[in-house]
Amino acid sequence: MTSQTLHEARKYEEVSEKLIQKEDRPAFHLSARTGWMNDPNGFSYYKGEYHMFYQYHPYDSHWGPMHWGHAVSKDLLHWRYLPAALAPDELYDWDGCYSGSALELPDGRHLLMYTGVLKEKHKNGGFSEIQRQCMAVGDGVDYEKYENNPVLDEKDMPEGSSRIDFRDPKMWRGKDGIYYCVIGNRPADGSGQILLYESEDAFHWNYKKVLVANNNRFGKMWECPDFFELDGKWVLLTSPQDMLPQGFEFHNGNETLCLIGAYDEDTCSFTEESYQSIDYGVDFYAPQTVLTPDGRRVMIGWMQNWDTCNVRTTEDPWFGQMSLPREISVKDGRLYQNPIRELEDMRSGKVEYKAVSVSSNLALEGIKGRKLDLELNIYSGDIQNIYHKFAIRVAQNDKYYTSVSFRPHEDILKIDRKFSGSRRAIIHQRRSKVNHKDGNIKLRLILDQFSVEVFVNDGEQVMTMTINTEKEADGISFCADGEVKMDIVKYDLVEKENL
Ligand code: FRU
Repeated sequence: MTSQTLHEARKYEEVSEKLIQKEDRPAFHLSARTGWMNDPNGFSYYKGEYHMFYQYHPYDSHWGPMHWGHAVSKDLLHWRYLPAALAPDELYDWDGCYSGSALELPDGRHLLMYTGVLKEKHKNGGFSEIQRQCMAVGDGVDYEKYENNPVLDEKDMPEGSSRIDFRDPKMWRGKDGIYYCVIGNRPADGSGQILLYESEDAFHWNYKKVLVANNNRFGKMWECPDFFELDGKWVLLTSPQDMLPQGFEFHNGNETLCLIGAYDEDTCSFTEESYQSIDYGVDFYAPQTVLTPDGRRVMIGWMQNWDTCNVRTTEDPWFGQMSLPREISVKDGRLYQNPIRELEDMRSGKVEYKAVSVSSNLALEGIKGRKLDLELNIYSGDIQNIYHKFAIRVAQNDKYYTSVSFRPHEDILKIDRKFSGSRRAIIHQRRSKVNHKDGNIKLRLILDQFSVEVFVNDGEQVMTMTINTEKEADGISFCADGEVKMDIVKYDLVEKENL
C-alpha cells in the first residue's frame, strides 16, 4: 500500500521533472529527478537491470526529509527514472529514510535495508536523531516496509556505541549462504567504527563484531561503508566525516577512505594492509559498489561534497549527480578505477593527433565539446630538458575555463575550477601526487556537461569535480612551459536510442 506521503512525492516528481530540460542535465551521469540528491543507495542488479536508489528530497534543491529516489539502467549510463521508492511515513522513520543497500532474495523479491531516523526531543528543547535499521521488500518498483521494523536498534550495538550515529547498512550474501551487513557507527571514543551483523534470512539480524575500529586515525564518524572481495584482497570503502589532511591525501573534510587488506571469512577478521583516498578531486563521497553479472566490481559515488554543495548561486530545480560508474581493481595494494567499459559504446566522432608539439594557447581542429572522452598521452619533447608544465583547459570561452595541469618536476597534477561559473570564494582546486617517467603521463578526461573526471595513468588516481560553467563554453586549449609532445584522441559521447 502506497502511503499518502509517498503518493504525494510520486505525483510531485512526475510533474516537476517536466520543468527540467534534458539539455540542462548531465547526459550519462544520473542526476536528481527533481529537487535534491545525495548518496547512492541500494545499488544492485535485479531482474535484468541495474537499480540505483538515492537520498532524495524531491520538494527542494536543498537537503530535507529523506526519501529514496529510484532509477534503472541497462548499461549504467542511460538511466530511466522510476517512482520514488521510500518516503518517511512510519513512526520509526518519520524524520528520514537514510542510506542503505539492496539485494535479491532467493524467492525473487528485492530487499532494501535502510536507516530509519526519528527525532527525539530533549527536555531543554533540543533533539537527537535516533537511527535504526529497517527493511522493505518489493518487486523493483513498489516496496512494502517490513512489519517488524526496525530490525536493529541500540540493543544490538556494543557497549558505549552511539544510537545517534548508527547508519548506512550495506548487506551482501556470503559464500556460506549467510547474509552479512556492515554499518557505520561511533564508539565511546567519538571516532568511527564499522559494525558487522549477520542473518540467516536477511530479516533477523544479529550483532557479530566490530569489523574495523577507526581509533581516531581517519576523521570521526565513518559513513556509508561497503565491504567486498576484490582481486584476492578485501576492500573496505567508507566516508569519514571531519578528516584532517595527511600530505596529499584526504583534503576534503568529508572524505572517502579505502582500506585494503586480508579477511578471514571463518572468523570474520579483517587485517588492514594499506589505505588511501578514493578520489583526489573535490566532488566525490559515499560511494557504493555492485557486482555485475559478468563479475566486475563497479563503484558509483555521489559527485558532490558536503563542504561545498551549499555554496551555490544558481537555483536550478535539481541538485546532485552521481559519478561515472567506475570499474575498480586492486593492484600492488592500491585501488585502481577506470570508466566502465560500456562508455566506449557511446563513442563517436573520433579525432586523433599524434606527437603534437604543445605551445601556448594551442587549439586543435575538431577538439571541443562538453560530452567528451579525451585520452591524452603527454611526454617530454626533449628528454635532456624535461618541461616544467603542461595544461589543458576545457569548458572554455572568453569568460570561463576549467584546467588540469601537470608539473613533472614536482610530480603534481592539479585541477582548478576557479573560472568555472562559481561566484563564491570556496576552494576550487586540488593537487595530487602522481607517477610519471620523465614527464610521461597518461590522462583520460570524461566531460559530461557539468563535471570533469580525470583518470590518471590507467586508473592509478582519479580527480573529480563538478562545474557550473554555462553550456556554451565548449572550447579546449593546451599550453606548456618547455617542450611537450602530446598524443590525443577525442571522442564525442553520444546517447543511444532504445536503451
Ligand atoms: C552521507 C550521509 C549518510 C546518511 C545520509 C543522509 O552523505 O550523511 O550517512 O545516511 O547522508 O542523507
